Amino acid sequence: MKKVSALLPAVAVAALLLFSFPFAGAASAAAADDAVITLPPPDKSGGVPLMKALSERRSNRNFSEQALSRQDLSNLLWAAFGVNRQDGRRTAPTANNSQKVAVYAAMGTGVWQYDGAAHTLTKVLSRDTVKEFGGAPLTLVHAAPEGLHGAMHLGSVYQNVGLYCASAGLANVVKATGVDVLKNDLKLPEGYKILIIQSVGKPK
Ligand SMILES: Cc1cc2nc3c(=O)[nH]c(=O)nc-3n(C[C@H](O)[C@H](O)[C@H](O)COP(=O)(O)O)c2cc1C
Repeated sequence: MKKVSALLPAVAVAALLLFSFPFAGAASAAAADDAVITLPPPDKSGGVPLMKALSERRSNRNFSEQALSRQDLSNLLWAAFGVNRQDGRRTAPTANNSQKVAVYAAMGTGVWQYDGAAHTLTKVLSRDTVKEFGGAPLTLVHAAPEGLHGAMHLGSVYQNVGLYCASAGLANVVKATGVDVLKNDLKLPEGYKILIIQSVGKPK
C-alpha cells in the first residue's frame, strides 16, 4: 500500500506529460490559424439614414493612428463587397455577376485578403504597411481585371465604403496615387491590377 502511494507523484507527472503534448499541439495549430481571421458578423441594423450618409460623404485625409475595431473592419469590408443575399451575390454589382474584385486590407498587422464569401481575412503579407500608405491605420487595396468593367466595379466598391464611413463617422479617401506600393508584393489573381487604394481611419 505504502509502495503504491509512493508511485503516485510519478504517475501524475507521466499523465501530465502524456496529456500536455496534444494540447501543446493544439495551441501551435491555433497560432498558425491566426493567419486567418474570422470577422464578426457585420452589423446590418445600424447606421444613419441613406440620405444623411450621402450628405456626409466626403474625402478626409487626416487620420488618427488608432486602429479600427474588428467590428468596424467587418462592417466596412462587408459594405465593400460582402455577400448580401442567399445566392452569394454582393453589396456591389458586377457585370454578369462576375465578382471579379479583390480587396486587400493593409494594416499594422500586415496585409490581408478579404474573402467575402467566408467573411474572413487571410494574411498575405506580414509587413506593417501603415507608413508606406501615409499613416492611415487601414488602407484598402482594390484590384480587378484592367478595363472599363473592372474600374466600374471598383468604383462601386469604394463608394460603398465611402458611404459606410460617412455613416460611421470614419475618415476615408480614395487615391489613384500610391497604387504601386504593393505592386511587387501581392500575388494578385491572374490578369488583375491594383487600380485604386482607399485609406480609412478615425478622423484626427
Ligand atoms: C478615381 C479617383 C482618384 C483619386 N485620386 C486621389 C489621389 O491620388 N490623391 C488624393 O488626395 N485624392 C484623390 N481622390 C480624391 C479626390 O481628390 C476627391 O474625391 C475630390 O477632391 C472631391 O472631394 P470629395 O471626395 O470630398 O467630394 C481621388 C478620387 C477619385 C474618385
